[in-house]
Amino acid sequence: MNPPDHARGGTSLGFMRTLVIDHPLVAHKMSRLRREETSSATFRLLAEELVTLLAYEATEALEVEEVAITTPVAPTVGLEMKEPRPLVVPILRAGLGMLNGMVRLMPTAEVGFLGLVRDEETLSASIYADRLPDNLKDRQVFVLDPMLATGGTLIAAIDILLERGAKDVTAICLLAAPEGLARLEEAYANTHAQVTIVTAGLDERLNDKGYIVPGLGDAGDRLYGTV
Ligand code: URA
Repeated sequence: MNPPDHARGGTSLGFMRTLVIDHPLVAHKMSRLRREETSSATFRLLAEELVTLLAYEATEALEVEEVAITTPVAPTVGLEMKEPRPLVVPILRAGLGMLNGMVRLMPTAEVGFLGLVRDEETLSASIYADRLPDNLKDRQVFVLDPMLATGGTLIAAIDILLERGAKDVTAICLLAAPEGLARLEEAYANTHAQVTIVTAGLDERLNDKGYIVPGLGDAGDRLYGTV
C-alpha cells in the first residue's frame, strides 16, 4: 500500500513519494533565498525558517502513542512521540545549515551526521564521515540536504540508512531537480523502502555542471561563504 498523500502538490509512485510544498510563506522565503544579493547571514536565517516550515509537513507521519497525562483540570490521554526517537541526519556540509530549523520543531530527536562529497567530474558521491548509530531498526529518519540535484548524494545516504534498518526515510530538501527525483524514483519506487522527499521547489533542470537551474547556486558556499 502506498502511504496516503496528504500534503499539497504531492505525487506518489510505488513506495516513494514527493511532496512539493505549495505555500505563500515558503514561496516568499525561497525567492529571497535564491537572490544572488542575499548575504550568507540572511541566507542562513531563511534556510532555517524554511526547514521549520517544511519539517511541519515532513513529520505528518511521525509515530505517536497514547500516554496518560493530567492537566490542571483533569486526567486525560495525550499523544506523544513514540520511542525509539526519530533520527535527524544532516548531510555535511550544507545540511548543517538546516539542522537548527529542524531540531527547533523536534528538540528531542537524536542527531547523526553523514559526510558525503560529490566528485565534480563524475558527480558521484563518496562517504568521508559516518557518525550514525549502527542499528536503525524501527527508527524514523529525517535527512537534511538542501539541494536534490543529480540524486547521487541522497541515494548514497538513504542506502546506508536503509541498510542499517531504518523504518522509513524522509529527505527534506530546499530545492529539487527533475533529474534527481527521477533517479530516486528509479532507485526506490518499486521497492519496499519507504522514502519521502519534501521540498520547497521543483526547478527546471540541471546544467552541465550538475547545478540546479535556476536554483540558488552552491548551497554550502551561500551558507558559509566560498572556501
Ligand atoms: N549542490 C548545490 O549546492 N547546488 C546545486 O545547484 C546543485 C548541487
